[in-house]
Order: sequence, then structure tokens, then C-alpha cells
Amino acid sequence: MTVDRTDRTDRTDRTDRTGGSPLAPAWLSVPEDLDALDPVIWPEAFRRDAEGRLTVSGIPADQLAERFGTPSYVYSEDVFRARAREFRDAFTDAFARIGADVTVYYAGKSFLTTEVVRWVREEGLNVDTASGGELAVALRAGMEPHRIGLHGNNKSAAEITRALDAGVGRIVVDSLAEIELVARLARALGVVAPVMVRVTPGVHASTHEFIATAHEDQKFGLSLAAPEDGGDSPAMQAVTACVVDPDLDLRGVHCHIGSQIFDADGFGMAAERVLAFMAGANERFGLTMPELDLGGGYGIAYTEADTPRPAREIAESLAGKVAAAARALDMAVPELSIEPGRAISGPSACTLYTVGTVKTVTVDSGARRRYVSVDGGMSDNARPVLYGADYTAVLADRPAEGGPVLSRVVGKHCESGDIVVRDVYLPGDLTAGDLLAVPATGAYCWSLASNYNWVPRPPVVAVRAAGAQPEARLIVRGETEDDLLARDLGA
Ligand code: LLP
Repeated sequence: MTVDRTDRTDRTDRTDRTGGSPLAPAWLSVPEDLDALDPVIWPEAFRRDAEGRLTVSGIPADQLAERFGTPSYVYSEDVFRARAREFRDAFTDAFARIGADVTVYYAGKSFLTTEVVRWVREEGLNVDTASGGELAVALRAGMEPHRIGLHGNNKSAAEITRALDAGVGRIVVDSLAEIELVARLARALGVVAPVMVRVTPGVHASTHEFIATAHEDQKFGLSLAAPEDGGDSPAMQAVTACVVDPDLDLRGVHCHIGSQIFDADGFGMAAERVLAFMAGANERFGLTMPELDLGGGYGIAYTEADTPRPAREIAESLAGKVAAAARALDMAVPELSIEPGRAISGPSACTLYTVGTVKTVTVDSGARRRYVSVDGGMSDNARPVLYGADYTAVLADRPAEGGPVLSRVVGKHCESGDIVVRDVYLPGDLTAGDLLAVPATGAYCWSLASNYNWVPRPPVVAVRAAGAQPEARLIVRGETEDDLLARDLGA
């Protein structure tokens, strides 16, 4: 990626401009040019052509909409692959300087199809799966089993057996009971299970801040904190259980501190705490656990308010902290692994919608808000409803003519919270039949999609700039009403 993601000065200036709606949030600036595509949000494959249409690797949005319908998720394969390489190279280079190998596991929960597994595999990344279903996709796509990891706080015996049978590279164990279960199933199959212990380091990060605590109040992992009445921490009990069991091969320790994180400090503090734990466990049992996994969570820009750091900057900062912590603990730097999902898949897609009803309402203060209804909504992007997530949108099939009007893009579902973009300035001339594109919908949109109101899930399109002639193809076809009715066993 060539864009300097750290330079936000122009954006800060814009927020000071006047003329905006009193209903707009403080972070939202009135755009000078409604057709501009903010390069921090829109990767370089998404550009306007001479006619002012949004294009994906040169293919105009209206042609994509005509061919594949709306709503549709449109991925740039080139952006996805470039971001996968960016993480691979940034972490590999930064950790090579401190003498450590890095393995990047793409977090499949953010977006996983067999085609995507092929991209990931070809770019030299492994795959992190979080269920039997995700594991099945990775295997079906031909990913070598030893390059697959399996996560989950409540894996079934069937999921574990399938993973062991396939020969996955690691199972990240999440509880003492699960350690026993994995050992028992491995013994039954006559294999030794490669495991990592998921610990909770007491560091929670979210966007720009992180908090550090001793005790954890959440379902994942095993705490590093010792119980008040003395004795070993749950994490140390887990390591002990793995070490004494010949059916288990303890590969190392795993932690994941949160998602959509911009600041490397939280990762650094987690690394320091987990390394200290590893040093203690290594000494106690006379072993050298080879690997530390720091999970995923690297943030992306959904709107102008987001300021992600380049992968290289995070990797350098983390490598410095890991090296210093290992030195202080007098231990060799272990191999590192990370599990980015959103940072690879998120910016590589946009969702195309067709505008339907446009309606302006007057609120109590007398200010006006324009509601723009599109042909999708919370069924194809649950994140605004689930997390209050903010997005932005642009007019995609033509240039703007009217001036900026504060708009709320809403879906077609029977729920007033069915919001796609809470606040965005869109052209005053926006009308039914126009195409809208919402960027950064590549992560946790398709994977969280539902059939609410019996709305079929949209297709997934992949575009690549194959030589002079870019090509667009379906990688997941859209659902039909017949698909949905096929499982209805009534009349
Ligand atoms: N590794 C583990 C163990 C995880 O739990 C997750 C995400 C990741 C890696 C990948 O995190 P990423 O790099 O994508 O942030 N549905 C929410 C996000 C849930 C994340 C769950 N775990 C959202 O849409 O924001």
C-alpha cells in the first residue's frame, strides 16, 4: 500500500468548516468534493472514471450492478492480496531484525470462502478457523492442514476430532476441560495434538485506548492472574496439564486483546505479560515453548474519524517491545504468530446498493434529516446495529450535482435501527435508482449476514486487474427465495 495512513491533517482541517447540519456528529466534515474518495478509506483499486463513476479495478459500478444485481459485496482481489502481503512482509521483516520467525494466520471469521482461502494460501499466509464450518472451508479449498489453526471457547468433540483427523497445525485450547477432551480424543485417534494455550493477559484494547487489569471477566481464555487464595493461575494450570500429557504437544501461548485497535501499545503490553508468563513456565518445566501468538485486532478506516497505523509501524513497535521484554527476562525471542482478519479483508470490499425511497424528516429542533433507503440493510451489514459501527457512502454511478445534504442510509428491514450509514453527506440530487457504494465492508459483513425478513443474502463478486482487461466474477452466488424455501419443511 502506498498511501500514508498517518497523515490526517487535511481531515482535521475539514472538520472545522462551517455549513454542516446541526444533526451531524462532531467528527463528520462537510465534504468539499462529494465525489472525492478518501484514500485512507478507499484503497487505490477503487477510483472514479472520466464519467465520474466509481470503478473497481477499472470496472464501473453500474456495470457491476447490472451484471450481479444489488445489493452485492464487491471485493478487489488485488487489494485483499496486497494487504495480506503487507502484513506478512511487515511482520516478517520487523521480527527478522530481532531474530524471530513470524507466521501470519488470516482470521477467517472476518470473511471466508474457498476462493479467499486460495488467495491467502498463495500469498503465503496460514488460516485461523473458529468453527468446524470454517475448518471445512479451509480444507475444501486445499489449504494444507498443518497451515490451519482451530480456535473456539466451546469446540465440540466432533470439531476437535475433525481437526485432529485432518492434522491441523494447532488447536488453541481455551479451558482446562478442553485440554482433557483434546487429549482423550487424540489418544483415541493415536495422534499427538499440537496445542496452544489461550491466556487472558488482562489487557483490553479498543481503538485508541487500552486498559490493563489483573482479572478478566469474559468467556475466552485462561487468566494469568493467580487466585487470591494462592496456587497457580488458571493459565499455569493449563500449561501443567498440557506438559504432563503425552498426547499433547504444547506449541506455545496465545492471546487476543480486542479488535479495531489503532495503537500498538496494547499489543506491546500483552506481549510483555505473556512473555513473562512463558519464561516462568519454561523455567518451571525445563522446556522452551516455541511460539507466542498475539492474535488479531489491527484497525482499519471506516470513516474519516478512523486513523489506522501502517502495518509496518505496528510491527516495528511490537518487535522492539518483544525484544526488550525477552532481554529483560533473559529468554530467547520465541517465534511469533499473528491473526489479522479485518485489516486484510475489510478495506478490500465495498457494498453496492440501489437507492429506493428518499424521505426528509424534521426533528424537534427544526433541523432536517434525509433518510435514504437502500435495497439491503442489517441483513447484509449487521455491524451498525450490533456495535453502533459507523460507515460512509458515496454516490457510485455518476458524479454529484446537488450540494451536500446530511443523510442517513437505512435498509429495507422492519426495524427502525436498521441503519447502514448513520451520518454521511450525500448529494442533494440523490434519487431513486441511484447506486450507492459503502466502503470497508469486507470484514464481518458477509460473515455476519442473516436472512432477516426472509431477505436472501447477496452475492460476493471478486474483481481483479488481470493484465489490461480487468475481470469480475462471482465467488459466492446470491441466495434465492428458493434457496431459503428449500429448508422450509412445511406445506
Ligand atoms: N484472533 C482471534 C482469537 C479473534 O478472536 C479474532 C476476532 C481475530 C483473531 C481477528 O480479529 P480482527 O483482526 O479481525 O480484528 N464482529 C466484530 C469483530 C469480532 C472479532 C472477534 N475476534 C466486528 O465486526 O467488529
